Amino acid sequence: MERTFVILKPDAVQRGLVGEIIARFERRGLKLVAMKFMQVSDELARKHYAVHAERPFFAGLIQYIVSAPVVALVLEGTNAIAVVRNTVGATKPAEAAPGTIRADFGLEIGRNLVHASDGPDTARDEITLWFGDDLVAWGRAVDAWIFE
Ligand code: RTP
Ligand code: MG
Repeated sequence: MERTFVILKPDAVQRGLVGEIIARFERRGLKLVAMKFMQVSDELARKHYAVHAERPFFAGLIQYIVSAPVVALVLEGTNAIAVVRNTVGATKPAEAAPGTIRADFGLEIGRNLVHASDGPDTARDEITLWFGDDLVAWGRAVDAWIFE
């Protein structure tokens, strides 16, 4: 069973799409194991996006992610990292496949609604950075009908 980290970015919150986006992950069968509504600090934003520190869009990216509240969550399920990335769609909404979140709700790369971990190492590091050990291990009545 795999875990991945997701942020519903400020544009998703401002546009009232929190429920719509989480519903897509829930319907897919993924299980929520952590979630919080929060204002991101400059320090946390810089740590989270440290890999992009030298990129020309870094300053704008940090400014955007701290500009308004976000929802941070951890999802668990079979192949959760790849499944969530596929559900979210390509980084540029214009190139995202129809039916993905970024294609269905977005137009521009700097307003692409969702962050999702891109591999096992980043998922582990991001979950620790945003939640520490504060995850909820719980059984879902429908698990046997979703997981073989
Ligand atoms: P994310 O990390 O947010 O899940 O997105 P991603 O993996 O699909 O894309 P990544 O390459 O990690 O870029 C992180 C975020 O930076 C913004 N970005 N802007 N203006 C630009 O050229 C540019 N490139 C990236 C996007 O908001 C992207 O989600
Ligand atoms: Mg990324």
